[in-house]
Amino acid sequence: MRKINIFDTTLRDGEQSAGVNLNLQEKLEIARQLERLRVDIIEAGFPAASKGDFQAVKQIAETVKTCSVTGLSRLVQSDIDTAWEALKGGAEPRLHLFIATSPIHMIHKLRMTPEQVIETAVESVKYAKRYFPIVQWSAEDACRSELPFLAKIITEVIKAGATVINIPDTVGYITPKEYGNIFTFLRNNVPNIEKVSLSAHCHDDLGMAVVNSLAAIEHGATQVEGTINGIGERAGNAALEEIAVALYIRKDYYQAETRLNLQEIKRTSNLVSKLTGMVIPPNKAVVGKNAFAHESGIHQDGVLKEKTTYEIISPELVGVQSNSMVLGKHSGRHALRNRVEELGYTLSDEEINQLFVRFKELADKKKDITDDDLVALIFEEKFDHFKDFYQLSSIQVQYGTNQIPTAVVVLKDGEGNEIQEAATGAGSVEALYNTLERCFKTPVTLLDYRIESVSGGRDALAQVFVKVRVNDIETSGRGTAQDVLEASAKAYINAVNRVFMIETMRMENQKVAMQ
Ligand code: KIV
Ligand code: ZN
Repeated sequence: MRKINIFDTTLRDGEQSAGVNLNLQEKLEIARQLERLRVDIIEAGFPAASKGDFQAVKQIAETVKTCSVTGLSRLVQSDIDTAWEALKGGAEPRLHLFIATSPIHMIHKLRMTPEQVIETAVESVKYAKRYFPIVQWSAEDACRSELPFLAKIITEVIKAGATVINIPDTVGYITPKEYGNIFTFLRNNVPNIEKVSLSAHCHDDLGMAVVNSLAAIEHGATQVEGTINGIGERAGNAALEEIAVALYIRKDYYQAETRLNLQEIKRTSNLVSKLTGMVIPPNKAVVGKNAFAHESGIHQDGVLKEKTTYEIISPELVGVQSNSMVLGKHSGRHALRNRVEELGYTLSDEEINQLFVRFKELADKKKDITDDDLVALIFEEKFDHFKDFYQLSSIQVQYGTNQIPTAVVVLKDGEGNEIQEAATGAGSVEALYNTLERCFKTPVTLLDYRIESVSGGRDALAQVFVKVRVNDIETSGRGTAQDVLEASAKAYINAVNRVFMIETMRMENQKVAMQ
């Protein structure tokens, strides 16, 4: 069996999805989970892009022990220096350099000649090798590049010391056969190519990212790049969980394996979906809600007689569990902490204490606290607090079929000042959001609003996801409560707090740039 390295770029290419802005805590949690999933490489961000990215990459590199952590870098010495500062504390620092090689990009974007591109690539690889033992070099838009030029530049960067060569299908244009042929061409035309690792990086614009990645493996790639749930720019990246499960289920065909712990797939997928606010389509392969549901009578009959009639992947393989009732009103702090740890979350003593308060409040209103309820509370406690910004104190909403819906909201700002406002709207949520907008004293555009129940039953927790735009910043927010209006208010406040956080970070970056 050939070993295929899994390079996860959920925190870099995935975070480039429209409206996704993860904070440091959220990025760290995802990185910890990727480590549990046993990916080989985590691309934690683009250290030179902002102070926030730098901090996140640095902390992830220092936290993660059993995966290599990498960061993206342009071919600029200052980017490489910054990346080294962020990554040097990691278990196996590696750098990811990229420059475009297609005529379209070289002419219109870079405005460089092919010779200049080669020279810059070689110089930067040499420079990076002063620090990094492993240097990955990517030919952006490789799939629309001229193959002889691609072979030439790769020959030169290998000579300069690159150890991983990545062939991205940046715009999701290639077909499986053509992609496979590129790998074969390079293997036949680049001296010493067998000494480096060849990597595939596919985007999903034509819905072929996973199948293209698998074609690359068939033609000699030893590394595949992608994201959890396939999130990413535009139509997204190759979904890593689909590639890993395809390799596992069809090992007879691919004769290749990864080191992933497949049972961590569902948990990782849920975590990424919740933290990014990007929903998993119910029919999505491997992790969709319906991926293991057998609806038709004939299928159900077959599965009851013998599972393998219609089930090629067992839900247990990817860690899908039935929702278990775990705790109730009489459960103590110790039981709560144990369950939180079993669910894979690391909470400080203070966070556990706060969680316990919230848990008891919920247990008074809801008899059975399921794992899903607990995870929703953990998310609120761990990720949704922005102590420096707005906190919800209270809401009151009046609604009647023949009345104008009216809301009154009390918020506390970061300095502890109380803000109280009231407004009306066409419906209860609109009244609430109009009122909140008055409190924020800034126009907020609501781009999306979704509501779902955390578990079944009339007493279930409600979870609301919103997408908003404030000035030029687009971001998402989430809120959980037993009442749908309270959950709606929390989600809106959460999103606006994220906007303020991004604005604060931008201001800090500007200050640093001016110094
Ligand atoms: O899609 C792409 O080309 C990339 C590179 C930066 C590797 O993400
Ligand atoms: Zn990409």
